[in-house]
Amino acid sequence: MKTMLNVALPKGRLGEKVYSMFATAGFECPSILEPNRKLIFENEDAGVRYFWVKPSDVAIYVERGAADIGVAGKDILLEYAPDVFELLDLNVGRCRMAVAAKKDFRDNPERTLRVATKFARIARTYYAGLGRDIDIIHLNGSIEIAPILGLSDVIVDIVETGKTLLENDLEPLETIVPISARLIANKASFRFKSAAIEAVAQGLKAQVPAE
Ligand code: PRP
Repeated sequence: MKTMLNVALPKGRLGEKVYSMFATAGFECPSILEPNRKLIFENEDAGVRYFWVKPSDVAIYVERGAADIGVAGKDILLEYAPDVFELLDLNVGRCRMAVAAKKDFRDNPERTLRVATKFARIARTYYAGLGRDIDIIHLNGSIEIAPILGLSDVIVDIVETGKTLLENDLEPLETIVPISARLIANKASFRFKSAAIEAVAQGLKAQVPAE
């Protein structure tokens, strides 16, 4: 019997792009393109079963073995540090983790810096490296509002086009790390389904867009 690979894909625009890479690599599942709200799709002949999950949950499915492989942003991997193998940089979903602030912000190194973010670990690691004391204000979205309302001095967030910052009168100060989508694998699956996972990784590698 053919090995079935359970694949967690991030729901949304990035996931659709990533699915097309899997399809081109020979792991298509045509029913996935039907307009419905199903979350699980299977193609037994190709040996794949896809799940659409919230992008920030992909790593949990893979770490716990509910999915053998998945595609997650480097931001999620850095923030949650899941115990998984990172197999391939897919070079899609490219953006950067950055510090931003109001245009008139002037840093005072004598004072604790108030940092609003969804990415507390990434922010802590970054500022620890600079030897800077910070106070993390953990938010779940609309981070850009925090400095405008005086809730924080700066934000640490994802910047893709820069439009959200611009339209909220903020400006990027520093890039912390470039981000892109990564193929990840559950550690046990990587041993027991190695041939199937290797075939997917090789197939995807050929689809990775150049820099
Ligand atoms: C991210 C991020 C910014 C925006 C940046 O949010 O939090 O708000 O994208 O993109 P830009 O530089 O192209 O304007 P996302 O859309 O991922 O959703 P979120 O609010 O759930 O974080």
